[in-house]
Amino acid sequence: MSRPSAARARGAHAEPWDAGPFLRATRGKPAGTTPVWIMRQAGRYMPTYRRLRAKIPFKTLCRRPDLAAEVTVQAAAALGVDAAIIFSDLLLILEPMGAGLIYTTAGGPKLARPVRTARDAGRLRSARARETLDFVYEAVRLARRALPRNIPLIGFAGAPFTLASYLIEGGGSRDHLATKSFMHAHPAVWNRLLERLARDAAEHLTGQIDAGAQAVQVFDSWVGSLSPADYREHVLPHVRTLFALLPAGAPAIHFGTGTAGLLELMRQGGGTVMGLDHRVEIGAARRRLGAIPVMGNLDPATLLADRAVIRRRAREILKRAQMIPGHIFNLGHGVLPATPVDHVKFLVDIVHEYRSH
Ligand code: CP3
Repeated sequence: MSRPSAARARGAHAEPWDAGPFLRATRGKPAGTTPVWIMRQAGRYMPTYRRLRAKIPFKTLCRRPDLAAEVTVQAAAALGVDAAIIFSDLLLILEPMGAGLIYTTAGGPKLARPVRTARDAGRLRSARARETLDFVYEAVRLARRALPRNIPLIGFAGAPFTLASYLIEGGGSRDHLATKSFMHAHPAVWNRLLERLARDAAEHLTGQIDAGAQAVQVFDSWVGSLSPADYREHVLPHVRTLFALLPAGAPAIHFGTGTAGLLELMRQGGGTVMGLDHRVEIGAARRRLGAIPVMGNLDPATLLADRAVIRRRAREILKRAQMIPGHIFNLGHGVLPATPVDHVKFLVDIVHEYRSH
């Protein structure tokens, strides 16, 4: 029963980041087939998730490590994807800061005590993630233990701008006008706020890595609403702080949406893989970014169309990415709640079966 020593040398202890197609792609190494996972792969489009949610409120689900781990592992297994992402939420870190987080059924997440003035910002505490978000690390430990060895687990956190936008708007927003107004009116207070968010997010990501996450993703979901000039001046230094605080060598995906005008600047912010939304052509984005792995970028709405459309669009992306080592297939943003689960599985199969010749 002795296994080849080369296989043993590639095991988790010898080269912890290199096992499997997803981790290889994060390093820009050939992965055999293009690895694929789906943002929000555990969520409301899945009947199993909806059944669980009918009994348990969302925040409770996030705070129960056994259930969060189960949802994580179940989604990855059901889809046959190459990575799992821990079931949690971007905004949980805002609660221990003192902002008061409520998930409403109709209007999405709301903050009970939003940051409207410089004084409000001064009242925020550090999240002290290591103490207050321990349930996330426990979920990571349980999920890591339950996942097959060859399926890596991704941890995640919000980037400073996206977290600040929820704090300041008090919830989701289309134009982020309150956030931008605050940024321009109180630049020094803004800098202190983003510095705190960057440090807290980095601590939270490090906690997840220490608990067994083999990669992390930083979601700057709404940063695409900024001009390049404002990004450079008011956001980039804090994004740099966040990435600089992560453990050396950990694969880190830097993702945002509506970021076609910001990609080069975001790359300067850090991360070892750049996430692309569906509004950019993946080949052109790769040429702009240079030698760095990319993740993306099928429009989530494509999964509402029929299989022929899904196949055609998925293959276009694979072809344009040219099977260059360092492409991780994903959607350009989270999977939509109306998506048929079978369409997601179909997409995963299309990606795995693709050969460039
Ligand atoms: O990807 C995964 O499967 C992991 C789970 C995950 C969730 N939220 C679970 C969730 C991840 C990675 C997130 C990140 C997140 N949360 C982001 C960034 C991702 C993005 O889309 O850009 C943002 C902006 C949030 C904040 C948030 N949480 C919003 C705006 C909402 C409400 C809107 C919505 O999509 O439901 C949530 C709630 C939420 N987070 C749900 C899930 C499964 C739905 C809650 C429910 O079951 O009712």
